[in-house]
Amino acid sequence: MPPGYGLLISEFEFPKVFFRAEAIETALGCEGLYIKWEGSNPTGTQKDRAAYRHILKALSQGYDTVTVGTCGNYGVSVAYFSRLAGIKAVIFIPSRYSGSRIPEMLHYGANVVKVDGSYEEAVERSILAAFDEGWYDANPGGANEEVAIEAFSELSSEMYSSLGKAPNVVSVPLGNGTTLSGIYLGFLRLKASGLIDEVPKMIGATTAYGNQVAFSLRYGRDKLIDYGISSVRETEVNEPLVSIKSFDGERALEAILSTGGRIYEFTDEDLISFSKILLEMEGIPALPASASSLGALLRFLESDENVSGPCVAVVTGRNVEWKMP
Ligand SMILES: Cc1ncc(COP(=O)(O)O)c(C=O)c1O
Repeated sequence: MPPGYGLLISEFEFPKVFFRAEAIETALGCEGLYIKWEGSNPTGTQKDRAAYRHILKALSQGYDTVTVGTCGNYGVSVAYFSRLAGIKAVIFIPSRYSGSRIPEMLHYGANVVKVDGSYEEAVERSILAAFDEGWYDANPGGANEEVAIEAFSELSSEMYSSLGKAPNVVSVPLGNGTTLSGIYLGFLRLKASGLIDEVPKMIGATTAYGNQVAFSLRYGRDKLIDYGISSVRETEVNEPLVSIKSFDGERALEAILSTGGRIYEFTDEDLISFSKILLEMEGIPALPASASSLGALLRFLESDENVSGPCVAVVTGRNVEWKMP
């Protein structure tokens, strides 16, 4: 390991950005609307939380290489923190990936392996490579999957500290369901420790064109059902939310159903319009897929007049062109 790198990662702290969306409240006539902004993280998304915790674990267990299958954002996060820790990253990515994040992975020194297949196949390839090569497995559904759930549970404590109480509703962009499941776990723990009385209603926000959790709920199921690839339409806009197999989908389903939450499915046009609201009214460059959480929250508030604030939408960045640092 290059000298000093381990120190760099151990000193790292996440920026904690939480604010009241007053301009949106005024324009749309709602109250108590907050944004948990993950766009200030080093690579711009909440996936940095999971990557950071994985890399710390990999370092503590003496690994020199970490691997992951990704559709983009998570791969950049793993590449970034691997670089900070001075270990190698091998990132498996579907060859038809249309997003713009591969140059960033390469910039952070990752080895990018193109996979002829879906996101799920890229994850599978990475899990097998971890096993065969003795690499640290940072995949959803892999040997260390709990690490990501734990990492996202920290968001709940941060929301609680910012508000001084639990929000009534938390809305989260949903692909695999890992982020939402981690936040739910965090609130369950806050309740178990007596700090809050109720776990917030958990709202999932996703694409209308290919998500297993949404598909299962559409058919009134409380367990995941198989989702045929033919029903999926993946685009550059909805790609973080598309999931033929939602690796943490069972837990996300439980979180949504047991808290009286809902899932909302959006078209790409919807996602872009929510990100415009955030940019024009609050000045934040939200990734359209992650602006789904704002859209879902607004729909939920409209649908039930008994629901009141504080309500939180978890939103990430990346609605800007990346420039070589
Ligand atoms: C920016 C962003 N938001 C939301 C998601 C979906 O999160 P999860 O897979 O934890 O449900 C992803 C997935 O990569 C993402 O990159």
